[in-house]
Amino acid sequence: MAESPAYPVGLRLTARRTVVLGGGQVAQRRLPALIAAGADILLVSPTATPSVEAMADAGEITWERRRYEHGDLKDAWYALIATSDPDANTAASAEGEAHRVWCVRSDDADAATALTPATGRSAGVTVAVLTTDIHDRDPRRTAAIRDALVEGLSDGTLVARQHRTRTPGVALVGGGPGDPDLITVRGRRLLAEADVVIADRLGPRDLLDELPSHVEVIDAAKIPYGRFMAQEAINNALIEHAKQGKSVVRLKGGDPFVFGRGMEEAQALAEAGISCTVVPGISSSISVPGAAGIPVTHRGVAHEFTVVSGHVAPDDERSLVDWPSLAKLRGTLVILMGVDKIGRIAETLVAHGRAPETPVALIQEGTTAAQRRVDATLSTVAAEVAAHEVKPPAVIVVGDVVNVGPDSPA
Ligand SMILES: C[S@@+](CC[C@H](N)C(=O)[O-])C[C@H]1O[C@@H](n2cnc3c(N)ncnc32)[C@H](O)[C@@H]1O
Repeated sequence: MAESPAYPVGLRLTARRTVVLGGGQVAQRRLPALIAAGADILLVSPTATPSVEAMADAGEITWERRRYEHGDLKDAWYALIATSDPDANTAASAEGEAHRVWCVRSDDADAATALTPATGRSAGVTVAVLTTDIHDRDPRRTAAIRDALVEGLSDGTLVARQHRTRTPGVALVGGGPGDPDLITVRGRRLLAEADVVIADRLGPRDLLDELPSHVEVIDAAKIPYGRFMAQEAINNALIEHAKQGKSVVRLKGGDPFVFGRGMEEAQALAEAGISCTVVPGISSSISVPGAAGIPVTHRGVAHEFTVVSGHVAPDDERSLVDWPSLAKLRGTLVILMGVDKIGRIAETLVAHGRAPETPVALIQEGTTAAQRRVDATLSTVAAEVAAHEVKPPAVIVVGDVVNVGPDSPA
Protein backbone atom coordinates (compact mmCIF):
# COMPACT_ATOMS: atom_id res chain seq x y z
CA MET A 1 0.00 0.00 0.00
CA ALA A 2 1.38 3.41 -0.97
CA GLU A 3 2.11 5.55 2.03
CA SER A 4 -0.15 8.54 2.60
CA PRO A 5 1.27 12.07 2.45
CA ALA A 6 2.49 13.66 5.68
CA TYR A 7 -0.03 15.67 7.65
CA PRO A 8 1.17 19.27 8.03
CA VAL A 9 0.82 20.81 11.45
CA GLY A 10 2.23 23.76 13.40
CA LEU A 11 3.72 22.71 16.72
CA ARG A 12 3.34 25.18 19.58
CA LEU A 13 6.54 24.43 21.42
CA THR A 14 6.71 27.34 23.87
CA ALA A 15 8.19 26.03 27.12
CA ARG A 16 7.74 22.44 25.90
CA ARG A 17 10.65 20.06 26.21
CA THR A 18 12.34 19.49 22.88
CA VAL A 19 15.31 17.16 22.77
CA VAL A 20 18.08 17.57 20.23
CA LEU A 21 20.53 14.72 19.91
CA GLY A 22 23.84 15.70 18.29
CA GLY A 23 25.41 19.15 18.25
CA GLY A 24 26.67 19.27 14.66
CA GLN A 25 25.64 21.10 11.52
CA VAL A 26 22.05 19.80 11.55
CA ALA A 27 21.50 21.08 15.07
CA GLN A 28 23.16 24.36 14.16
CA ARG A 29 20.71 24.85 11.28
CA ARG A 30 17.57 23.78 13.13
CA LEU A 31 18.17 25.24 16.58
CA PRO A 32 17.50 28.92 15.75
CA ALA A 33 13.92 28.13 14.65
CA LEU A 34 13.33 25.97 17.72
CA ILE A 35 14.66 28.77 19.94
CA ALA A 36 12.45 31.26 18.11
CA ALA A 37 9.49 28.95 18.78
CA GLY A 38 10.20 29.26 22.50
CA ALA A 39 10.97 25.56 22.98
CA ASP A 40 12.60 24.33 26.17
CA ILE A 41 15.57 22.74 24.44
CA LEU A 42 17.82 20.02 25.83
CA LEU A 43 20.83 19.28 23.66
CA VAL A 44 22.53 15.96 24.32
CA SER A 45 25.88 15.68 22.61
CA PRO A 46 29.52 15.19 23.62
CA THR A 47 30.57 17.96 21.22
CA ALA A 48 29.00 20.95 19.50
CA THR A 49 29.89 23.41 16.76
CA PRO A 50 31.06 26.84 17.99
CA SER A 51 27.67 28.36 16.99
CA VAL A 52 25.73 25.72 18.94
CA GLU A 53 28.08 26.20 21.89
CA ALA A 54 27.37 29.93 21.76
CA MET A 55 23.63 29.20 22.02
CA ALA A 56 24.32 27.16 25.16
CA ASP A 57 26.57 29.90 26.56
CA ALA A 58 23.80 32.43 25.94
CA GLY A 59 21.35 30.27 27.88
CA GLU A 60 19.14 29.65 24.85
CA ILE A 61 19.51 25.88 25.20
CA THR A 62 20.58 23.46 27.91
CA TRP A 63 23.55 21.36 26.85
CA GLU A 64 24.44 18.02 28.46
CA ARG A 65 27.88 16.99 27.21
CA ARG A 66 27.38 13.28 26.82
CA ARG A 67 26.11 10.63 24.42
CA TYR A 68 22.47 9.69 24.01
CA GLU A 69 21.11 7.42 26.73
CA HIS A 70 17.87 5.53 26.77
CA GLY A 71 15.29 7.63 28.62
CA ASP A 72 16.41 10.97 27.12
CA LEU A 73 13.18 11.32 25.17
CA LYS A 74 10.87 10.42 28.02
CA ASP A 75 9.59 13.93 28.75
CA ALA A 76 9.96 15.32 25.27
CA TRP A 77 7.15 16.59 23.06
CA TYR A 78 9.35 16.64 19.99
CA ALA A 79 12.85 15.44 19.13
CA LEU A 80 15.49 16.09 16.55
CA ILE A 81 17.73 13.08 16.17
CA ALA A 82 20.96 14.04 14.48
CA THR A 83 23.94 12.30 16.03
CA SER A 84 26.80 10.94 13.91
CA ASP A 85 26.14 7.45 15.28
CA PRO A 86 23.46 5.59 13.24
CA ASP A 87 22.95 3.02 16.03
CA ALA A 88 22.24 5.76 18.56
CA ASN A 89 19.84 7.38 16.08
CA THR A 90 18.00 4.10 15.58
CA ALA A 91 17.78 3.52 19.34
CA ALA A 92 16.52 7.05 19.91
CA SER A 93 13.93 6.63 17.13
CA ALA A 94 12.69 3.45 18.79
CA GLU A 95 12.44 5.26 22.10
CA GLY A 96 10.50 8.09 20.46
CA GLU A 97 8.11 5.57 18.92
CA ALA A 98 7.60 3.86 22.26
CA HIS A 99 6.93 7.15 24.10
CA ARG A 100 4.91 8.60 21.17
CA VAL A 101 7.31 11.50 20.74
CA TRP A 102 7.32 12.91 17.21
CA CYS A 103 10.90 12.63 15.93
CA VAL A 104 12.75 13.88 12.89
CA ARG A 105 15.90 12.09 11.90
CA SER A 106 18.76 13.53 9.91
CA ASP A 107 20.35 10.26 8.74
CA ASP A 108 17.22 8.35 7.74
CA ALA A 109 14.12 10.46 7.18
CA ASP A 110 12.13 7.41 6.09
CA ALA A 111 12.59 5.90 9.55
CA ALA A 112 11.35 9.06 11.30
CA THR A 113 7.83 9.84 12.50
CA ALA A 114 8.03 13.49 11.43
CA LEU A 115 9.52 15.42 8.51
CA THR A 116 11.03 18.90 8.55
CA PRO A 117 9.56 21.09 5.80
CA ALA A 118 11.52 23.76 3.97
CA THR A 119 10.39 26.86 5.84
CA GLY A 120 10.59 30.60 5.46
CA ARG A 121 8.79 33.66 6.77
CA SER A 122 7.52 36.78 5.15
CA ALA A 123 4.66 39.23 5.35
CA GLY A 124 3.40 37.74 8.60
CA VAL A 125 3.10 34.17 7.38
CA THR A 126 5.26 31.07 7.70
CA VAL A 127 5.66 29.11 4.51
CA ALA A 128 6.37 25.38 4.95
CA VAL A 129 6.87 23.11 1.94
CA LEU A 130 6.78 19.29 1.95
CA THR A 131 6.65 16.94 -1.03
CA THR A 132 3.39 15.01 -1.31
CA ASP A 133 5.18 11.68 -1.81
CA ILE A 134 7.09 11.41 1.44
CA HIS A 135 9.67 9.04 -0.07
CA ASP A 136 10.32 11.26 -3.05
CA ARG A 137 11.94 14.06 -1.14
CA ASP A 138 13.79 16.61 -3.19
CA PRO A 139 15.23 19.15 -0.76
CA ARG A 140 16.42 21.45 -3.55
CA ARG A 141 12.96 21.59 -5.11
CA THR A 142 11.16 22.21 -1.82
CA ALA A 143 13.74 24.88 -0.91
CA ALA A 144 13.32 26.50 -4.34
CA ILE A 145 9.52 26.55 -3.97
CA ARG A 146 9.90 27.97 -0.48
CA ASP A 147 12.30 30.65 -1.78
CA ALA A 148 9.95 31.59 -4.61
CA LEU A 149 7.04 31.96 -2.21
CA VAL A 150 9.00 33.95 0.36
CA GLU A 151 10.50 36.18 -2.32
CA GLY A 152 7.12 36.76 -3.93
CA LEU A 153 5.58 37.71 -0.60
CA SER A 154 8.53 39.89 0.32
CA ASP A 155 8.75 41.88 -2.87
CA GLY A 156 5.01 42.05 -3.32
CA THR A 157 4.88 40.12 -6.61
CA LEU A 158 2.85 37.45 -4.82
CA VAL A 159 -0.04 39.23 -3.14
CA ALA A 160 -3.28 37.54 -2.22
CA ARG A 161 -5.26 40.68 -3.03
CA GLN A 162 -8.56 39.74 -1.43
CA HIS A 163 -6.88 38.71 1.80
CA ARG A 164 -3.88 41.00 1.72
CA THR A 165 -2.60 42.46 4.92
CA ARG A 166 -3.00 46.20 4.98
CA THR A 167 -0.80 48.47 6.96
CA PRO A 168 -3.10 51.14 8.32
CA GLY A 169 -1.99 54.75 8.16
CA VAL A 170 1.04 55.97 6.29
CA ALA A 171 4.36 54.32 5.52
CA LEU A 172 7.22 56.70 4.77
CA VAL A 173 9.25 54.51 2.48
CA GLY A 174 12.79 55.26 1.42
CA GLY A 175 12.89 54.11 -2.19
CA GLY A 176 16.66 54.20 -2.67
CA PRO A 177 18.53 56.19 -5.31
CA GLY A 178 16.56 55.21 -8.41
CA ASP A 179 17.35 51.65 -9.50
CA PRO A 180 14.14 49.75 -8.64
CA ASP A 181 16.20 46.86 -7.25
CA LEU A 182 17.60 49.15 -4.57
CA ILE A 183 14.45 49.58 -2.51
CA THR A 184 14.27 47.46 0.66
CA VAL A 185 12.22 44.26 0.74
CA ARG A 186 9.91 45.85 3.31
CA GLY A 187 9.45 48.96 1.24
CA ARG A 188 8.54 46.94 -1.82
CA ARG A 189 6.03 44.87 0.11
CA LEU A 190 4.34 47.94 1.57
CA LEU A 191 4.18 49.41 -1.92
CA ALA A 192 2.46 46.28 -3.18
CA GLU A 193 -0.11 46.53 -0.38
CA ALA A 194 -0.86 50.24 -0.80
CA ASP A 195 -4.12 51.84 -1.89
CA VAL A 196 -2.48 55.21 -2.49
CA VAL A 197 1.14 56.04 -3.32
CA ILE A 198 2.38 59.60 -3.11
CA ALA A 199 5.72 59.64 -4.89
CA ASP A 200 8.58 62.09 -5.31
CA ARG A 201 10.29 62.81 -8.60
CA LEU A 202 13.48 61.12 -7.35
CA GLY A 203 13.51 57.46 -6.39
CA PRO A 204 12.46 54.26 -8.11
CA ARG A 205 9.81 55.56 -10.53
CA ASP A 206 9.86 52.26 -12.45
CA LEU A 207 8.21 50.52 -9.50
CA LEU A 208 5.11 52.65 -9.96
CA ASP A 209 4.47 51.05 -13.36
CA GLU A 210 4.16 47.66 -11.68
CA LEU A 211 1.35 48.73 -9.37
CA PRO A 212 -2.12 47.38 -10.12
CA SER A 213 -4.50 49.80 -11.81
CA HIS A 214 -6.67 50.30 -8.72
CA VAL A 215 -3.75 51.87 -6.83
CA GLU A 216 -3.93 55.65 -6.91
CA VAL A 217 -0.52 57.10 -7.73
CA ILE A 218 -0.07 60.77 -6.92
CA ASP A 219 2.91 62.82 -8.03
CA ALA A 220 3.91 64.83 -4.95
CA ALA A 221 5.17 67.68 -7.15
CA LYS A 222 1.70 68.04 -8.68
CA ILE A 223 -0.32 68.30 -5.47
CA PRO A 224 -1.92 71.76 -5.69
CA TYR A 225 -0.88 73.84 -2.71
CA GLY A 226 -2.83 77.07 -3.06
CA ARG A 227 -2.58 78.92 0.23
CA PHE A 228 -0.38 76.21 1.76
CA MET A 229 3.33 75.57 1.30
CA ALA A 230 4.02 72.57 -0.95
CA GLN A 231 5.16 70.46 2.01
CA GLU A 232 2.04 71.35 3.98
CA ALA A 233 -0.11 70.31 1.03
CA ILE A 234 1.68 66.96 0.87
CA ASN A 235 1.19 66.47 4.62
CA ASN A 236 -2.51 67.26 4.22
CA ALA A 237 -2.85 64.82 1.32
CA LEU A 238 -1.23 62.07 3.42
CA ILE A 239 -3.57 62.80 6.33
CA GLU A 240 -6.72 62.97 4.18
CA HIS A 241 -6.10 59.65 2.44
CA ALA A 242 -5.16 57.92 5.68
CA LYS A 243 -8.34 59.26 7.34
CA GLN A 244 -10.33 57.58 4.59
CA GLY A 245 -8.96 54.29 5.92
CA LYS A 246 -6.55 53.78 3.03
CA SER A 247 -3.09 52.30 3.17
CA VAL A 248 -0.87 55.15 2.08
CA VAL A 249 2.76 54.89 1.00
CA ARG A 250 4.81 58.06 0.82
CA LEU A 251 7.56 56.96 -1.53
CA LYS A 252 10.66 59.08 -1.22
CA GLY A 253 14.05 59.06 -2.92
CA GLY A 254 16.98 57.65 -0.97
CA ASP A 255 16.38 57.62 2.78
CA PRO A 256 13.39 59.54 4.17
CA PHE A 257 15.52 61.27 6.80
CA VAL A 258 18.45 62.39 4.64
CA PHE A 259 17.40 65.78 3.29
CA GLY A 260 14.05 64.15 2.70
CA ARG A 261 11.77 66.13 5.03
CA GLY A 262 10.61 62.76 6.34
CA MET A 263 10.42 63.91 9.93
CA GLU A 264 8.21 66.86 9.02
CA GLU A 265 5.74 64.40 7.54
CA ALA A 266 6.04 62.04 10.52
CA GLN A 267 5.39 64.97 12.89
CA ALA A 268 2.34 66.14 10.93
CA LEU A 269 0.94 62.59 10.96
CA ALA A 270 1.56 62.25 14.70
CA GLU A 271 -0.27 65.54 15.32
CA ALA A 272 -3.20 64.24 13.27
CA GLY A 273 -3.19 60.99 15.28
CA ILE A 274 -2.30 58.85 12.26
CA SER A 275 0.02 55.89 12.61
CA CYS A 276 3.22 56.18 10.67
CA THR A 277 5.80 53.53 9.79
CA VAL A 278 9.22 54.60 8.61
CA VAL A 279 11.12 52.31 6.26
CA PRO A 280 14.75 53.34 5.81
CA GLY A 281 16.15 53.56 2.32
CA ILE A 282 19.55 53.45 0.67
CA SER A 283 20.69 57.04 0.55
CA SER A 284 22.10 58.45 -2.68
CA SER A 285 24.87 60.02 -0.59
CA ILE A 286 26.63 56.66 -0.31
CA SER A 287 25.10 54.54 -3.05
CA VAL A 288 25.48 56.94 -5.97
CA PRO A 289 29.23 57.42 -5.46
CA GLY A 290 29.47 53.64 -5.01
CA ALA A 291 27.60 53.03 -8.26
CA ALA A 292 30.20 55.20 -10.01
CA GLY A 293 33.10 53.27 -8.46
CA ILE A 294 33.83 55.75 -5.67
CA PRO A 295 33.98 54.51 -2.06
CA VAL A 296 33.17 57.27 0.40
CA THR A 297 35.89 55.89 2.69
CA HIS A 298 39.05 53.96 1.85
CA ARG A 299 41.72 52.60 4.15
CA GLY A 300 44.69 54.94 4.25
CA VAL A 301 42.87 57.61 2.24
CA ALA A 302 39.79 58.82 4.11
CA HIS A 303 38.66 58.04 7.63
CA GLU A 304 35.60 60.22 7.51
CA PHE A 305 32.91 61.35 5.15
CA THR A 306 30.63 64.29 5.63
CA VAL A 307 27.33 64.67 3.83
CA VAL A 308 26.16 68.24 3.32
CA SER A 309 23.47 70.04 1.43
CA GLY A 310 24.62 72.53 -1.17
CA HIS A 311 21.20 73.94 -1.93
CA VAL A 312 22.14 77.37 -0.63
CA ALA A 313 25.47 79.05 -1.42
CA PRO A 314 28.13 79.30 1.33
CA ASP A 315 27.71 83.07 1.60
CA ASP A 316 23.91 82.82 1.84
CA GLU A 317 22.78 83.76 5.33
CA ARG A 318 20.31 80.83 5.33
CA SER A 319 23.18 78.31 5.07
CA LEU A 320 23.64 76.16 8.17
CA VAL A 321 26.85 74.56 6.83
CA ASP A 322 30.19 75.62 8.29
CA TRP A 323 32.11 75.60 5.00
CA PRO A 324 35.37 77.08 6.42
CA SER A 325 35.54 74.21 8.93
CA LEU A 326 34.73 71.63 6.24
CA ALA A 327 37.59 73.03 4.15
CA LYS A 328 39.99 72.07 6.94
CA LEU A 329 38.91 68.41 7.03
CA ARG A 330 40.98 65.85 5.12
CA GLY A 331 38.17 63.39 4.54
CA THR A 332 35.51 62.97 1.88
CA LEU A 333 32.87 65.61 1.34
CA VAL A 334 29.62 64.44 -0.25
CA ILE A 335 27.43 67.27 -1.46
CA LEU A 336 23.77 66.79 -2.36
CA MET A 337 21.68 69.37 -4.19
CA GLY A 338 24.86 71.27 -5.00
CA VAL A 339 25.10 71.40 -8.82
CA ASP A 340 23.90 75.01 -9.14
CA LYS A 341 26.18 76.30 -6.38
CA ILE A 342 29.27 74.15 -6.92
CA GLY A 343 31.32 77.08 -8.27
CA ARG A 344 30.84 79.11 -5.09
CA ILE A 345 31.26 76.01 -2.92
CA ALA A 346 34.59 75.10 -4.58
CA GLU A 347 35.87 78.67 -4.24
CA THR A 348 34.99 78.71 -0.55
CA LEU A 349 36.66 75.39 0.14
CA VAL A 350 39.86 76.53 -1.60
CA ALA A 351 39.76 79.93 0.09
CA HIS A 352 39.71 78.20 3.48
CA GLY A 353 42.50 75.74 2.87
CA ARG A 354 41.45 72.81 0.69
CA ALA A 355 43.93 72.24 -2.14
CA PRO A 356 42.72 73.49 -5.57
CA GLU A 357 43.80 70.17 -7.14
CA THR A 358 41.56 68.14 -4.81
CA PRO A 359 39.69 65.67 -7.02
CA VAL A 360 35.95 66.14 -7.53
CA ALA A 361 33.44 63.83 -9.21
CA LEU A 362 29.85 64.60 -10.12
CA ILE A 363 27.53 61.65 -10.65
CA GLN A 364 24.28 62.53 -12.35
CA GLU A 365 21.23 60.25 -12.12
CA GLY A 366 23.22 57.58 -10.34
CA THR A 367 22.08 53.93 -10.44
CA THR A 368 19.73 54.62 -13.37
CA ALA A 369 20.24 53.90 -17.07
CA ALA A 370 21.12 57.58 -17.53
CA GLN A 371 23.95 57.58 -14.96
CA ARG A 372 27.02 59.57 -15.94
CA ARG A 373 30.13 60.75 -14.17
CA VAL A 374 32.10 63.93 -14.74
CA ASP A 375 35.52 64.36 -13.13
CA ALA A 376 37.21 67.60 -12.21
CA THR A 377 39.18 69.28 -9.43
CA LEU A 378 38.11 72.04 -7.09
CA SER A 379 39.74 74.57 -9.42
CA THR A 380 38.09 73.25 -12.60
CA VAL A 381 34.73 71.99 -11.38
CA ALA A 382 32.66 75.07 -12.25
CA ALA A 383 33.93 75.05 -15.83
CA GLU A 384 33.48 71.26 -16.19
CA VAL A 385 29.91 71.40 -14.92
CA ALA A 386 29.12 74.06 -17.51
CA ALA A 387 31.02 72.28 -20.31
CA HIS A 388 29.30 68.94 -19.67
CA GLU A 389 25.95 70.47 -18.80
CA VAL A 390 25.69 68.53 -15.55
CA LYS A 391 22.12 68.74 -14.26
CA PRO A 392 20.45 67.75 -11.00
CA PRO A 393 20.03 65.24 -9.55
CA ALA A 394 23.72 64.75 -8.99
CA VAL A 395 25.90 63.77 -6.07
CA ILE A 396 29.21 65.60 -5.83
CA VAL A 397 32.16 63.90 -4.16
CA VAL A 398 35.20 65.91 -3.09
CA GLY A 399 38.36 64.19 -1.91
CA ASP A 400 41.06 61.67 -2.76
CA VAL A 401 38.61 58.74 -2.71
CA VAL A 402 37.49 59.94 -6.15
CA ASN A 403 40.69 58.49 -7.62
CA VAL A 404 41.03 55.17 -5.79
CA GLY A 405 38.69 53.05 -7.93
CA PRO A 406 39.94 51.05 -10.93
CA ASP A 407 37.75 53.13 -13.28
CA SER A 408 38.90 56.51 -12.00
CA PRO A 409 40.44 58.79 -14.61
CA ALA A 410 43.57 59.42 -12.50
C1 LIG B 1 16.18 66.30 -1.63
S1 LIG B 1 17.64 65.39 -1.68
C2 LIG B 1 17.06 63.82 -1.17
C3 LIG B 1 18.11 62.86 -0.80
C4 LIG B 1 17.57 61.49 -0.47
N1 LIG B 1 16.70 61.51 0.65
C5 LIG B 1 18.67 60.47 -0.24
O1 LIG B 1 18.85 59.96 0.87
O2 LIG B 1 19.34 60.15 -1.22
C6 LIG B 1 17.86 65.23 -3.40
C7 LIG B 1 19.32 65.15 -3.82
O3 LIG B 1 19.81 63.83 -3.65
C8 LIG B 1 20.75 63.55 -4.65
N2 LIG B 1 20.26 62.40 -5.42
C9 LIG B 1 19.19 61.64 -5.14
N3 LIG B 1 19.08 60.61 -6.02
C10 LIG B 1 20.11 60.75 -6.87
C11 LIG B 1 20.57 60.00 -7.99
N4 LIG B 1 19.93 58.90 -8.40
N5 LIG B 1 21.67 60.41 -8.63
C12 LIG B 1 22.34 61.52 -8.23
N6 LIG B 1 21.96 62.24 -7.18
C13 LIG B 1 20.87 61.87 -6.51
C14 LIG B 1 20.88 64.78 -5.50
O4 LIG B 1 21.94 65.55 -4.96
C15 LIG B 1 19.56 65.42 -5.28
O5 LIG B 1 19.60 66.80 -5.57
